[in-house]
Amino acid sequence: MTSNAIPTRPIWFDPATETVRVIDQRQLPHQLVVMDLASVDAVIEAIVEMVVRGAPLIGVTAAYGMYVACANERAGIDDARLRQEARRIRSARPTAVNLTWAVDRALEILLATPPAARKAAALALAAKIAEEEADNCRRIGRHGLPLIGAVAAKKGGPVNVLTHCNAGWLACVEYGTATAPIYAAVEAGIDVHVWVDETRPLNQGARLTAWELARRGIAHTVITDNAGGHLMQHGMVDLVIVGTDRTTAAGDVANKIGTYLKALAAYDNGVPFYVALPSSTFDWRLDDGVAQIPIEARDPDEVRYVQGRADGRIVRVLVPPAESPAGNYAFDVTPSRLVTGFITERGVCGATAEEIRNLFPDRNDPSSEI
Ligand code: MRU
Repeated sequence: MTSNAIPTRPIWFDPATETVRVIDQRQLPHQLVVMDLASVDAVIEAIVEMVVRGAPLIGVTAAYGMYVACANERAGIDDARLRQEARRIRSARPTAVNLTWAVDRALEILLATPPAARKAAALALAAKIAEEEADNCRRIGRHGLPLIGAVAAKKGGPVNVLTHCNAGWLACVEYGTATAPIYAAVEAGIDVHVWVDETRPLNQGARLTAWELARRGIAHTVITDNAGGHLMQHGMVDLVIVGTDRTTAAGDVANKIGTYLKALAAYDNGVPFYVALPSSTFDWRLDDGVAQIPIEARDPDEVRYVQGRADGRIVRVLVPPAESPAGNYAFDVTPSRLVTGFITERGVCGATAEEIRNLFPDRNDPSSEI
């Protein structure tokens, strides 16, 4: 369906129809389309095709996927089928650890629940995870606000924040991760301007972050992915804040392709580089991001074609010669030495194993596949 009313979350459960609904992010900013996820196949396809995307939202969608798996077995889903559906959902996208985290959390609870009660338990858990992630992002905003406030106190004029991809409410449930401190700063009356990396190939920055910021009336400028280094050399970026799809226990950060180059430029120019994340995005089992984090390779046609609006319609156009192959590496890893700090729901810490462990002493127990 196409709608004029703008939902306040990218995913929700409609109790009247007992359906899971999502915003189809492929069509933003030009069309607001809401989709129902009525089967596990539909949930998996929505994650794979990036109807929903962004690490926290992928986790929440996966949790609702476990609900859909339970709801679609009238007699109550048995253990074997539950494990099978969990495996299928888990394999939808490889990089965002929130996916595995949410599925494993659901599986553990559901296997301990009698089959007849699994549907209700799965729904309650999915709703709980959604609320937790919204609350995490609210707290990330609160903890990140002083970082922007400190810059504002030191200099006149707007605080220039550069961000990459979309780590806003569309990628989470509310507030976003990288955008939460920005929203909090604007609410506190701080003058903020955001440099929005367009984020090729799928333009999550130009399409989604710009849409979010425009709707909130926050000053922003869309730039090419390669402009950040130049802006930093000329003192036009005060700090960088990005999200992440998976961060190791030692502080290496996987995020949308191009993040690493921004971190290098920030390091070279003495610009603080912060990563905002909820604890669900830490992978406590890993300590070497470059070697261990799986990097998704997507359809090369996402690189070869650009999507936009022309004559009121969403169209795709081919850019390179038809015979030229393309490579589509969706994420890269920024080593911890380039990261100034993490903004989490528990506070801000440096990018070292020790500082992360001090903030999350209870969370560094490796989870394993059930
Ligand atoms: O491929 P995407 O759009 O799912 O990639 C999203 C990102 O890289 C985000 O920066 C990350 O998931 C953090 S979202 C709070």
